[in-house]
Amino acid sequence: MPDAIGNKVPKNYHLDVHAPEQGFFAKGLGNSDWGMKNRLSKLFNPESGNTVMLAFDHGYIMGPTSGLERVDVTIAPVCKYVDVLMGTRGAIRTCIPPTVNNAICLRATYDSSVLVDDMSVGTGIGADMEAAIRMNVTAVAIQCFIGGAGEARSMEDLCRAVDCGERYGIPVLGVTAVGKNMARSTEYFLLATRILAELGASFVKTYYCDHFENVVAACPVPIVIAGGKKLPEKDALEMAWRAISDGARGVDMGRNIFQSECPAAMAQAIGAVVHKGSSAKEAYEMYQEIKNSTK
Ligand code: 5RP
Repeated sequence: MPDAIGNKVPKNYHLDVHAPEQGFFAKGLGNSDWGMKNRLSKLFNPESGNTVMLAFDHGYIMGPTSGLERVDVTIAPVCKYVDVLMGTRGAIRTCIPPTVNNAICLRATYDSSVLVDDMSVGTGIGADMEAAIRMNVTAVAIQCFIGGAGEARSMEDLCRAVDCGERYGIPVLGVTAVGKNMARSTEYFLLATRILAELGASFVKTYYCDHFENVVAACPVPIVIAGGKKLPEKDALEMAWRAISDGARGVDMGRNIFQSECPAAMAQAIGAVVHKGSSAKEAYEMYQEIKNSTK
């Protein structure tokens, strides 16, 4: 306990300095509690307002995907080049050292495996908020199947996760899952992202599409884009650049990073687009330079 007697008398109240603004850099999240904002500031870089998330949660439905045969071998070395790691608790616990400094976005739902025709029929909560807190995660990701057979169940899971997340200050990432037979249209993403935000997701993951700026404008919280299937590095960087130019606040990319010829170079090049405003061309040059220097 501090001594009560003999202390210096307080006299400098900095009357010429304004108290800090209580505004918050992340779109739509200014009314969140301090703890939630603190976690959001670990997910999104407060300077750029953006984030590079590395998704390696594919195994939970696909088994050992190319590039993720050994998560400990391929993902752990790339962690230092990204802001956020997104994976299942099984993969994070077994393959990611607890000493990493990244924010962690826990894939908290399970879904049907690739052997089932419609992955939305078997969706549910795979890791509850208590498990998330024990793992000291920064956010939880809940996948929603708007328009799919599992729509109601997944929306219920999202709402419950938002309730619990608000109780403990943990942001929820709403993930728009597009079923096999559904069109990846602007109209679909306008609808799905807006629904997830209105149900309380703190940020939303979706796919890049035509007129993406409208999807961003109509979604009241930050949007990050998924990478999707592996593209040539140049094209993936171009997509990231377009998304950021259209207002996305980052990427949550998997295959376009870990299936790249040089994942560490690709992660850094994506980071240049997302945080430094590099053009796709500049970022591709950076990718090649780093790749060649590591040969
Ligand atoms: C799917 C997901 C995955 O994390 C995401 O699709 C993986 O990233 P990528 O498509 O870039 O490989 O959220 O719902």
